[in-house]
Amino acid sequence: MSYDALSKYPNTEIAEIELRIAGELNPGPWIEHSINTGLAAKYIASKCDNLDPEKAYILGVLHDIGRRVGIVSQRHIIEGYNYCMGKGWEEAARICMTHSFMVQNVKADVGEWDVSDDDYAFINQYIETITYDDYDRLMQLCDSLATANGFCLLEKRFVDVHRRYGVNEYTIARWNAVFDIKEFFENKMGCSVYEVLPNVKETSFIDVPLWKAPPK
Ligand SMILES: [Fe+2]
Repeated sequence: MSYDALSKYPNTEIAEIELRIAGELNPGPWIEHSINTGLAAKYIASKCDNLDPEKAYILGVLHDIGRRVGIVSQRHIIEGYNYCMGKGWEEAARICMTHSFMVQNVKADVGEWDVSDDDYAFINQYIETITYDDYDRLMQLCDSLATANGFCLLEKRFVDVHRRYGVNEYTIARWNAVFDIKEFFENKMGCSVYEVLPNVKETSFIDVPLWKAPPK
């Protein structure tokens, strides 16, 4: 176990407790999606020499923690960042910001910008100036591999997301960016990401009703 008191993210137990509390505050499929994002990150990190699987799991579990405040869109990014920074978890806070921007441009994401002008400017500046590391890339990939039901083909998740939120002029660039990240990790792993994620075939073929946030 690599966690120590100086780590800029919580340990596994605290991360899971935080997610459980968040699920009580704002129940929804995002809780299982968060766990599965963490598991995907752990399984992939286990095959990469330079990554810590436990850290990958924790960062995955917390990437959407900003949703603890309720049903929000892009606001979850800044809420998660502020919440984690308030706890001293700088690396978890960073993932809350970077996980949605595989294309390093805030205009590329399709979500609604339900944030203040100041928060938008802060996110914009943060994303424009950061240099992504392998944990940023790993969460961007795993967010796209994990549903509430398990792990699935990227293509399946892409369609699911865009049926819910629509598309924009950056959609193909975002898909291509995720495929590039997948290839990046597969080169490190020496195998397909799908080889380390259980039940991809089964999960990809599950037909579940499309989940949408209830109207406000
Ligand atoms: Fe997510």
